[in-house]
Amino acid sequence: MTAVRKVVFPVAGLGTRMLPATRVLPKEMLPVVDKPIIQYALEEAAEAGAEQFIFITGRGKSIIEDHFDRAFELFQTLEEKQKRTALEQLTYDTPAPGKVIFTRQQEPRGLGHAVWCARHLVRDEPFGVILVDDLIQSERPCMAQLADVHARTGGSVVAVMEVPEEQTSRYGIVNPGRRDGDLVEVRGLVEKPDPSDAPSRLAVIGRYVLTPQVFDHLSRHQTGAGGEIQLTDAMESLIGRQPFHGLSFEGRRFDCGDKLGYLEAIVALASSRDELAEGMQDILRRYGAR
Ligand code: UTP
Repeated sequence: MTAVRKVVFPVAGLGTRMLPATRVLPKEMLPVVDKPIIQYALEEAAEAGAEQFIFITGRGKSIIEDHFDRAFELFQTLEEKQKRTALEQLTYDTPAPGKVIFTRQQEPRGLGHAVWCARHLVRDEPFGVILVDDLIQSERPCMAQLADVHARTGGSVVAVMEVPEEQTSRYGIVNPGRRDGDLVEVRGLVEKPDPSDAPSRLAVIGRYVLTPQVFDHLSRHQTGAGGEIQLTDAMESLIGRQPFHGLSFEGRRFDCGDKLGYLEAIVALASSRDELAEGMQDILRRYGAR
C-alpha cells in the first residue's frame, strides 16, 4: 500500500524545445506509439495506488482535460460498430468521475510556482509530483518505488540518476551524503549548476514525493535560477528539517521534452510491445541499426 494518495502533474510549461509541433498541441499530448505521453504518467500514478490526479494546466492545454473525459459519441459509435476491444480499452483508460482535477497556473512562473498552485488541493498530506516529459519504463512504477521509500523514511524522496558531467547545467543536482544501497541522503540541491560548480553528477529526475511543508517556502514566491520560482529551492529548504533522500530508481527514463529523447522513447516502447517488436527491429535495421 502506498501512503501517497495525491499526485500532481505540472503541465503548464510552454514546450519550446518541441516547436513547431507544440504551437497548438501541448507536448504532453504527443503520442508515444499509440498513447499520449500524459497517459503514461497517469497510469504510472494509478498503478502506484494514487487516488487523486491533480493537473496544473495553462492556456491552450484544455485538450488534456478532454482526453480524460468520456467522449460519449465515440463510445456510442464503437458500441454500434461492435468494436469491443477498443471500447473496453477506452473504458479502462477513462478515470472514474471526480478522480482528475484541473487547475490553471495563470502565468508560467516556474515549476515551483506550478506545484504551489496545487496547495489547496493537496492540503496537509505527502504527495507525489510527476513531470510528464520524463517517461519512465520500469518493472515497478517509479512513483511506487518512491512511495515505498517515503513509507520507510517518512520524509521527502526524489528520483535520481547519474548524468554526464557536461549535462549538469540541465538538471537539479544533488549534494550527496551517506549512501545506503539505492538510497542516498540529500545534503543539498543546486539548480542547473555549471559542471565546475556541480556537487556531483547525480541529477534529480521528474519524480518526487514531497511533504506539505514544501508549500511554506513556495508561498514566499522567491525567484531563483533563470528568474523562475524553482521547486529545487523549496526542496532545499526541507533539508535538515526532515529525512530527504534520492533514490536511484529501477527503470529507463526518456526525456520526451527533447527531440532525440522523444524518438528513443518511441523506439524503446514499440520494441517492448509483442505485436510491434519485430516490425520495429526491421525498421531499425533498414536505417542502419544493428
Ligand atoms: P521544462 O523546463 O521542461 O519547460 O519544465 P517547458 O516549458 O515544459 O519545456 P521547454 O523547455 O520550453 O521545451 C519542466 C516541467 O515543469 C512544468 C512543465 O510543464 C514541465 O513538466 N512547468 C514549468 C510548469 O508547469 N510551469 C512552469 O511555469 C514551468
